[in-house]
Amino acid sequence: MPSDSKWSEEKIIDAQRMVENARDIGDLLPPSLAHAADAFRGSAPALDAAGPLNLPDLDQQRDVVRSADVIRVTGKERVMEVFEDAAQHYSVSGYAERMEDSLGLIYLGLDGSDKRYGEQAWKSNAAISAVAAEEAFRLAFDKTRNAIDQQGIAPGDAEKLSVRVLAALCTHWFGLPDGVHMMEGGFGLDTAHPPKCPGDFAFLSHSITELSPDAKRAWSGMVKGHLLRLSVRQFVTGHHRDGTTPDGTLTRALFKAFPGQADLLARTIVGVMMGMLPTVQLNLLAVLEIWKRTNRYDALAAAFAAHPSEDLYKKACAVLEEPLMQAMQMRPTPGSVWRTAAADHLLNGEKVSKGDRIHVSIESATQEDLRKGVTDVTPIFGGSRGREPHPTHACPGYRMGMGILLGIIAGAMTSPAPVTSAAPVAPGTA
Ligand code: HEM
Repeated sequence: MPSDSKWSEEKIIDAQRMVENARDIGDLLPPSLAHAADAFRGSAPALDAAGPLNLPDLDQQRDVVRSADVIRVTGKERVMEVFEDAAQHYSVSGYAERMEDSLGLIYLGLDGSDKRYGEQAWKSNAAISAVAAEEAFRLAFDKTRNAIDQQGIAPGDAEKLSVRVLAALCTHWFGLPDGVHMMEGGFGLDTAHPPKCPGDFAFLSHSITELSPDAKRAWSGMVKGHLLRLSVRQFVTGHHRDGTTPDGTLTRALFKAFPGQADLLARTIVGVMMGMLPTVQLNLLAVLEIWKRTNRYDALAAAFAAHPSEDLYKKACAVLEEPLMQAMQMRPTPGSVWRTAAADHLLNGEKVSKGDRIHVSIESATQEDLRKGVTDVTPIFGGSRGREPHPTHACPGYRMGMGILLGIIAGAMTSPAPVTSAAPVAPGTA
């Protein structure tokens, strides 16, 4: 039975009404978005302009802590042990259940042992991995300069800039937003058709990958996921009917990978966009905010301008990449993900029972590295596909994502108006 049969027209209208009646965007923002919002409003407590970040102490002896049926896992070693999952103790079946009520099942919700995982993931991940960091960088740089120079977006308006550039990149790679089935738009409460890119993907992603989203946020993300699936399915069936393929290079690869499977194709397009959008956008906003508060932005822009290389990409890698990674380590998105224990076992001596939910604190792993002076963003990507064996779900978009981040930052830095002159913008107003 298709999972969207669970969604009656009435249920969607109810959900829309509830979301639209929420008093304020802050009522619905997931913590990761709320953090970006706080940062932009100047109230994020841990980002101290006067000195280094106030990183919490990590108790290395207790990196596996139970409370009720949730096991909290912290610290680099233990977090990577769960991601790598050598004994296949950890399942993403909890994601699958949430997806069924929303965008529909895609391979991020299937364990590696399920043969559908390989069938769905292989071609899709290969197409994503084939996008080189340099290609992503150059495209993101051009779109950023275009948004600033031709469309008058202030480089200091980081949120608005990120919305415009990410929507333009998605149109290039996915053929969406196309102004018909999906529109450009930032974080917002409305759940009207057509859905918005990148804004609606953040709520959707949060409702799946956050272990305990509150009911309103989960509901909002589920509604948006459902609406995205319906809209993208119309986009797909339109192309199937007309015998055409969309312009987006990644979407074209996905059309080839899932011939004649309109719903699976639509879900996968939504799922891949969901992988890219909130992660890139929220890491970007957090990094720019951290650099602003620690007075690093201007110094990095000056170092970038002074670097002798004429190749923008090489220059960005030389000057910006390491500081970018370090700032990402401070406030990563996602800050955590979760799994369900598939068998009774011991994790660093702590008893884990089948069905326990495992909260994997990526933030604790990256902050531990920062304290030790280690620059490593792989936990933020769920591990590295460069290692064999690699975690099943490790992000295939690592190079693409880092290229986009560097491209947008370099584009904003080379524009005449500094990012630091920006007036704060709260999510929901873009
Ligand atoms: C800063 C950028 C990015 C970050 C931080 C990031 C982070 C992550 C993380 C943590 C996971 C694993 C989730 C889990 O194990 O629970 C993941 C998986 C995934 N990401 Fe990314 N991602 C980024 C960019 C991208 C991009 C650019 C794309 C595609 C265009 C993408 C597509 C995916 C997909 C399809 C998966 C699922 C892989 C699988 O299950 O085989 N991501 N990402």
